[in-house]
Amino acid sequence: MPEVCYQGRIFQLREDETILAGLLRQGVELEYSCRAGVCNACIIRATAFDPDLERLKTGTLAPNLVASGHFLPCKTRLKGSIELLDPAPGLADNPVYARTTVTGRVVGKRWLTDDIVQLHVQPSVDVIYKAGQFVWLYHSDGQARPYSLACSPQRRQPLEFHIRRHDQGHVSRWITDELTAGTDIALSLADGDCCLEDGMNTVVMVAFGAGLAPMAGISQQILDGGEAAVGGHLLHVAHGKSGLYGESDSWDLAGEIQASASMQYTGLESRSELFTSLASLNSRYCDAYWFLCGSPDAVYQSRDELLRLGIPEGRMRFDPFESQPLVALPENDECQPDYPDPQPELWAWLNEDNRLATIVADFYLQIFADPILSPYFENISRRRSREKVFSFYQRVFSGEPSFFGDRPDHAHHWMVHSDDIFDYQLLLMEQTLKNHEMPGLLITIWMSYEEYFRRDIIKTRPEGY
Ligand SMILES: Cc1cc2nc3c(=O)[nH]c(=O)nc-3n(C[C@H](O)[C@H](O)[C@H](O)COP(=O)(O)OP(=O)(O)OC[C@H]3O[C@@H](n4cnc5c(N)ncnc54)[C@H](O)[C@@H]3O)c2cc1C
Ligand code: FES
Repeated sequence: MPEVCYQGRIFQLREDETILAGLLRQGVELEYSCRAGVCNACIIRATAFDPDLERLKTGTLAPNLVASGHFLPCKTRLKGSIELLDPAPGLADNPVYARTTVTGRVVGKRWLTDDIVQLHVQPSVDVIYKAGQFVWLYHSDGQARPYSLACSPQRRQPLEFHIRRHDQGHVSRWITDELTAGTDIALSLADGDCCLEDGMNTVVMVAFGAGLAPMAGISQQILDGGEAAVGGHLLHVAHGKSGLYGESDSWDLAGEIQASASMQYTGLESRSELFTSLASLNSRYCDAYWFLCGSPDAVYQSRDELLRLGIPEGRMRFDPFESQPLVALPENDECQPDYPDPQPELWAWLNEDNRLATIVADFYLQIFADPILSPYFENISRRRSREKVFSFYQRVFSGEPSFFGDRPDHAHHWMVHSDDIFDYQLLLMEQTLKNHEMPGLLITIWMSYEEYFRRDIIKTRPEGY
């Protein structure tokens, strides 16, 4: 059974619960807000644990925080045991974000209800995402908020969002009242795990208000015969008939679902209607996974009700639409600062026996033999690629200014490619690091550096070398 040692006590966790849920259940007082890996409020530090066994979820935490053992307990489930410490002083009040952004153009905007706007955004580069995930949208003054994607990547349409206007809301009022079609907007890469997973054969999705957005994306995935789920039931809960915007003539998600064999739709005009039907839904869909999205109090109330009905938290995914601490766009350009802090522990390991050079050489052997990656290296000698990338990693990990091109985009411009190619390359790198028996924690740190530079490396088209 997973175990956590914190403040001198041992806590046993259930296998299907997150560290945060398990500690809160046992009365431990911890900071948290979204419980969805977005606000970083729950940041905590791991000391003793088996890095080869545990995958600590680090979300958008900056590499230097990841390197010092910080992670997000609201997203992490354990396999073995771990020892926790409070985060480094000051961090809980001011968590550091390392978020990359891309630019998108608003190509459509209209009101779905009195207070919810449908927004279509065409990003300048492909945004890789899963139905149910969210991105951060940036106000022109640099403040950002997370908004769920109301679309499924299989349909290859512009990104869609449903934004509820809050009278006092800084970003939602700007988007609903001021942002116009034809304007550019900055958005982050996609995040979140309120998504279908293997083994979820039946899903019951409960959407409150604009919480329909992520559920619409997942519904489309199921309707299109997407990978995991074979059946589902979508329940949209709104205040009155006019709030059930999935049933409108112009955006008839309900009609599309009802015409299908794999899903059902129910529109509910109040929360009490939902609570009276939960028990019968539970008996009807006894092994279902439950998705709860939208207004935080509605999500938490429903979660408590489902727990009372005996549904384990491991069979629930939820995105409470919590308000967030302000997050500013990184200065200078739409990318991040040039280099994250160096990481002595990682560099000490890589520097011993010239391991970095051996790893890079091995990695390039594989790249040049790889049918997907090798075309990116035509006209470049393996030796030159190796030397440049060795120099780049040395600069990044050691902090020594040895790299002859000082910006990461220039450093990597021979690796011009899209997000999916970048992900593919990261998998290859991760496997290479494992083959060289790099300790699990150091692999996590290396990967967080790769993520840090993702935006610099991805280009819509190759540049000349
Ligand atoms: C994972 C995730 C996904 C989200 N997806 C969506 C989405 O698809 N669509 C969407 O509309 N929102 C979504 N949100 C909420 C969104 O991120 C913002 O919190 C919301 O738009 C308010 O931001 P704001 O800048 O307008 O308000 P802020 O300036 O942050 O807040 C100002 C005031 O507005 C009011 N307010 C803010 N948020 C709420 C709230 N949730 N309920 C009641 N009053 C509030 C409060 O009075 C608050 O003091 C999501 C949140 C999360 C965490
Ligand atoms: S509570 Fe963990 S990231 Fe928000």
